[in-house]
Formats: sequence, structure tokens, C-alpha cells
Amino acid sequence: MKKQFLVSILAAGVMTLSLATAAQAADAAKGQASAKSLGCLKCHAIDKEVVGPAYKAVSAKFNKDSAKLIAAFEKVEDHGKVKKKASKEDLENIAAWIFTL
Ligand code: HEC
Repeated sequence: MKKQFLVSILAAGVMTLSLATAAQAADAAKGQASAKSLGCLKCHAIDKEVVGPAYKAVSAKFNKDSAKLIAAFEKVEDHGKVKKKASKEDLENIAAWIFTL
């Protein structure tokens, strides 16, 4: 009896944890929408250089490391205006989208 109770408590805990992880996971589809609405795509295209580098090249350069990609984004002077509009969450989602390219 006791053991069964413990097992169900544990199972509930694991379920809560995986739900929390899913909620936090960056969302590539949202990222694509944000890249459009925030104006990233005025200066960037997916597979050719515009004002900034192609996102396919960016994806290869940062190789799934979104922390590094976001840190590099913050350093670019041309991002002055767009930096104020983009939230941390927007950037996480955009990074997730870039890594699908
Ligand atoms: C006004 C034009 C402009 C806009 C708008 C813009 N970028 Fe850029 N971006 C650039 C330029 C120019 C570079 C290249 C800078 C360099 O190499 O020094 C760049 C580089 C980058 C890089 C690569 C940095 C690196 O070190 O390799 C990333 C990632 C990036 N942009 C993401 C974004 C995101 C995300 C947005 C929208 C939130 C955005 N950019 C909006 C012009 C822009």
C-alpha cells in the first residue's frame, strides 16, 4: 500500500516536471513569427546575405548554442533599435527557429 502511494507521488512529480520543461522550451514557430514582426527579416534573409548575414550561415556558425547566438546578437551595433523591442523570450524563440534552417 505504502509503496504504491509513493510510486504514484513520484509519477505525478515526473509528469509535472515534463510539463514545466515543455512550457519553457523555445518555440521555433513563434520565433519565425517574431523575426518577421520585429523586423529581423528586413536585414536578414534565410539563405542570402542582405544587410546582415544569412540565417543559414548564422545557424551553422552557432551550431545550436542559443546562448552564444543571443550574446552575439546583443553585440551588433545595427541591432540598436530592434534590441529594445525584442524580449529574452523572443530571442530564445528566434534562435530556436534559426537552428531549424
Ligand atoms: C538594421 C539591420 C538589422 C536588423 C533589423 C537586424 N539585424 Fe541582425 N545583423 C545585422 C548586421 C549588419 C549583422 C552583422 C554584424 C557583424 O557581422 O558585425 C547582423 C548579425 C546578426 C547575427 C549574427 C551575429 C554574429 O556575430 O555572427 C544574428 C544572430 C542576428 N543578426 C540576429 C538578428 C535578429 C534575431 C534580429 C531581429 C530581432 C536582427 N538580427 C535584426 C543587421 C540587422
